[in-house]
Amino acid sequence: MLTTADLTVEKINSLLIAADEFSKGKVLKPTKEIFVSNLFFEDSTRTKTSFDIAERKLGLQVVPFDVTSSSVNKGESLYDTVKTLQSLGVNLLVIRHKQDQFYKELKEIDLPIINGGDGTGNHPSQTLLDLMTIHQEFGKFKGLKIGIVGDVKHSRVANSNAVALRKLGAKVYFSGPEKWFDEGAIINGTYLSIDDLIKEVDVLMLLRIQHERHDEKMKISLNNYHKKFGLTLEREKTMKENAIIMHPAPINRGVEIHDDLVESPRSRIFQQMKNGVFARMAILKDALESKGFEFL
Ligand code: CP
Repeated sequence: MLTTADLTVEKINSLLIAADEFSKGKVLKPTKEIFVSNLFFEDSTRTKTSFDIAERKLGLQVVPFDVTSSSVNKGESLYDTVKTLQSLGVNLLVIRHKQDQFYKELKEIDLPIINGGDGTGNHPSQTLLDLMTIHQEFGKFKGLKIGIVGDVKHSRVANSNAVALRKLGAKVYFSGPEKWFDEGAIINGTYLSIDDLIKEVDVLMLLRIQHERHDEKMKISLNNYHKKFGLTLEREKTMKENAIIMHPAPINRGVEIHDDLVESPRSRIFQQMKNGVFARMAILKDALESKGFEFL
């Protein structure tokens, strides 16, 4: 699983069904030993830990890999690192990397690779857990209005989610500072002012400001961000009665969302994290089955 653009609607639906079954307690174990490893070249709390838990729940053998103490520090390339782990007997890799489309240099390697986030490109496992959370709430995607607010230009979550949600028949709106948009970011999307968007949508997805991807031109004052573009207590009161708040996290409390709203009745932020384990179990099982491994 590399991008949501590669996923058919049928595949998304089958992954969501499998994730739902895992969330209700379905237990599956592999019919033979399978080794997997999680290579995180960028920091992570949720994605790395939930893949780790998902792998253990599926009875997979998790091979620890710490980039900071690996031979990557001696100059070994991503290609040679992956080729080495394959030679040692690893059967699947989850990779997060700051380089957009890092997986392109691995296309000759016949090993299932799950994209745990590539630069500003894609974050498909986040999308699956987000879709699961939306489906639990509304039981559908078609006709829903989804607002994605914030650093759209640098957010792999915005990109992955917008592509998948449009495929599933939802309408996607964007808002946030205009310098964090470009034609690519808003293609086929509708830009609304923050106040108009918040009144309109069923799902409000807030994004973290991606400071680590900003050059001098992209920086903005954090003091003004909450007032101008954030979910303030006043704006929350204008949301539709059944609208929900989502955020991939980590959250900058008091910047993109008021601290009091992070754990408010509308918030599904911690439910998203919980769903992450089940969504990732579904992704792992699907990727391994596509290579002939079996689960019972
Ligand atoms: N949402 C997300 O990808 O979080 P982490 O960076 O902590 O994995």
